[in-house]
Amino acid sequence: MENKLTLWFMQFLIVGVSLNLKAQIVSAEPKFPCYFVFGDSLVDNGNNNNLNTTAKVNYLPYGIDFPQGPTGRFTNGRNIADLIGELLGFENYIPPFANSRNQDVFTGVNYGSGAAGILDESGYKTGAVISLNKQLSNHRVVISRIATLLGGEKVAKEYLSKCLYTVAIGNNDYLNNYYLPQYYSSSSLYTPEQFAALLIRQYSKQLRKLYEYGARKVAVFALGQLGCCPAEVALYGSNGSSCVESINNAAKIFNDKLKPLVDHLNYLLADANFIYTNTATDSYGNITVLSGSCCALSDIGQCLPDAVTCNNRDEYMFWDGFHPTEAGHLLSAKKAYSEMSPLFTNLVDVE
Ligand SMILES: *[C@@H]1O[C@H](CO)[C@@H](O)[C@H](O)[C@H]1NC(C)=O
Ligand SMILES: *[C@@H]1O[C@H](CO)[C@@H](O)[C@H](O)[C@H]1NC(C)=O
Ligand SMILES: *[C@@H]1O[C@H](CO)[C@@H](O)[C@H](O)[C@H]1NC(C)=O
Repeated sequence: MENKLTLWFMQFLIVGVSLNLKAQIVSAEPKFPCYFVFGDSLVDNGNNNNLNTTAKVNYLPYGIDFPQGPTGRFTNGRNIADLIGELLGFENYIPPFANSRNQDVFTGVNYGSGAAGILDESGYKTGAVISLNKQLSNHRVVISRIATLLGGEKVAKEYLSKCLYTVAIGNNDYLNNYYLPQYYSSSSLYTPEQFAALLIRQYSKQLRKLYEYGARKVAVFALGQLGCCPAEVALYGSNGSSCVESINNAAKIFNDKLKPLVDHLNYLLADANFIYTNTATDSYGNITVLSGSCCALSDIGQCLPDAVTCNNRDEYMFWDGFHPTEAGHLLSAKKAYSEMSPLFTNLVDVE
């Protein structure tokens, strides 16, 4: 009896301690010590500013609703990586690789680059681009910095295993490759099915490399409804519907292969926790304008410099020809945050 009581009391103590710890972590600390961002213009926060490319937007009206004004973010305010960082409890935005300093690297780095794709050649028509392969090389540079600061590769790997990684890429392999047949031959070489398979083979290698670099908690984003971008509707015509269905179908073929890839990586790689993250939502909050962009567009689908914008930016899904408004990004960020929540649960293991 005495033993049982003692046991019960000890259990009570342990539960008490772990609850306490949980409360502390929720209120004071971000859910992860560090957050690394890979991807394209949906997450780019300034990496393209000094590149020789047309895919850069460090001018108004981009950033019109961002405290620092234009920064290279492809939207009016915060992008999905900023918003996910906020939801996770990070105090500052994750800095772009292009101007990250030594001490920044501990909370993470954003490698995102407008026009970047899974394939190195995607987006080349816009000029210089930091493809996913190059983003991984840049990550290698950051890992070396972390290893130097922490005193070795092994400690660095241990640290990197605790970080969150999001990878949002593949849009430009369609928009800035397959669906620009005047510049790229992929659509004459491959059916959508074959092209998706080719992308997935390459992506599999890249995600494994990220794992080799120490990543364990990785949210892999599905493609959105690319055929609904105003620029694609303008280019291809929507045939009575509000989106280009052939493009949406191609994106769906990719997503249908991405999900099993993610399952396979989890099966194959010890301690890997990859999550297939679909950011699409069926309710749009305050957004009422689902097609059409909020600013006047250039011939490459970006807002013209100093273009007048719509007044009710919170009611528009699309900012320019390709990118969501901050309000659109917020819908995706909240959905992504809930989809990646399984990655949060094993943080406070007090066993
Ligand atoms: C930038 O790219 C354009 C187009 O590819 C090229 O004509 C130009 O020489 C490049 N400028 C610099 C400074 O490299
Ligand atoms: C438009 O719709 C018609 C009838 O459904 C179809 O035959 C045609 O291929 C469509 N065109 C495009 C460009 O989607
Ligand atoms: C929607 O609009 C209402 C009224 O302006 C506002 O209070 C609310 O925060 C908005 N919701 C979102 C998700 O922006």
